[in-house]
Amino acid sequence: MANPSILILAGDGIGPEVMAEVKKIIGWYDAKRGITFDVSEDLVGGCAYDKHGTPLHDDTMAKAQDVDCVLLGAVGGPKYDSLDFSVKPERGLLRLRKEMDLYSNLRPAQCFDALADFSSLKKEVVAGLDIVIVRELTSGVYFGEPRGIFTEGNERVGINTQRYTESEIARVARSAFELARRRNNKVCSMEKANVMESGILWRQVVQEIHDKEYPDVELSHMYADAGAMQLCRWPKQFDVIVTDNLFGDLLSDAAAMLTGSLGMLPSASLGAPMANGRPKALYEPVHGSAPDIAGQGKANPIACILSFAMALRYSFDLGEEATRLEQAVEKVLADGVRTADLMGPEGGVPVSTSAMGDAIIAALDASL
Ligand code: NAI
Ligand code: MG
Repeated sequence: MANPSILILAGDGIGPEVMAEVKKIIGWYDAKRGITFDVSEDLVGGCAYDKHGTPLHDDTMAKAQDVDCVLLGAVGGPKYDSLDFSVKPERGLLRLRKEMDLYSNLRPAQCFDALADFSSLKKEVVAGLDIVIVRELTSGVYFGEPRGIFTEGNERVGINTQRYTESEIARVARSAFELARRRNNKVCSMEKANVMESGILWRQVVQEIHDKEYPDVELSHMYADAGAMQLCRWPKQFDVIVTDNLFGDLLSDAAAMLTGSLGMLPSASLGAPMANGRPKALYEPVHGSAPDIAGQGKANPIACILSFAMALRYSFDLGEEATRLEQAVEKVLADGVRTADLMGPEGGVPVSTSAMGDAIIAALDASL
């Protein structure tokens, strides 16, 4: 059987720097665990624009459709800010998401004990936190028609439309229930069924999919505003949260900050199952290309490394290896190894991007 395949699109700014550490880890799995990936690399974002005049070449798009998963670094930077909207680096990422139809965005909020002091919340509220927000990514108010700025009488009116079809809700609900079965069998669905018809339909469809296909999973519903309050008050009451595109955008950013640095946050975007039964998938850190620190060896590679751990779990069914990698990260943090973004007020000497990668490799070695 062919080796599992990964397309690496490191992108711009710190993207290639953090991805270099992931490549070391991929090499470690090959050398030490006999798990060999067919890795190919290509361009996305500003670097693709520089070479091809487009942020995502058609050949790259075709490759992305063909592999088991895509691993992306980050795109963009000040150099490209003045480009026309149609060729901006972000358009490369948006095209990948759209053409791969990645409708389910998984954003974990996980608090490593060694970083619990970083949270703006009390340590006991966040220590041990491990939840995932599943955000619908390809529909809802960011895409619904009609949209635009129109003139009505003697004033302008801005219009966006929240629109969800039954099948769009059903497929992201299934994605959340599948995830829950791999975790703690618990889903909370959030909408505003009290004031939005699309929310009423959301609640009905999630409940129907649950009753028909996932009755073993514990399901609750919450209004999204109440959910936001509960996330700040006692986030550990949740396990998997499923919500729409707009609420998911806000809730996942808020939940992420419960746990500290942007340099720590991974994500997965999943689509429909492929012929091998695994979902189409793109994994990427939540952070951007960080032009302010690019090229200085300061970037924290952990967000990208944890994104690869998600790939091990969700694209390759290597859950135990994913846990091994997450525990290596946990150990390194517990040992006090810190990139600059993880330095607390007490100070200390930060390590470089590659030294952080090396420390994680050493912890992987120690796990054998
Ligand atoms: P950003 O996430 O790149 O940076 C925000 C702040 O966090 C900066 O101070 C940066 O140094 C720091 N930071 C980010 N990642 C870090 C890491 N791994 N280690 C240490 N510190 C880290 O967001 P910003 O500044 O708003 O955007 C910069 C560029 O990135 C823009 O061109 C933007 O369009 C692009 N961007 C790309 C994204 C993507 O590729 N998915 C997402 C967000 C922004
Ligand atoms: Mg956001």
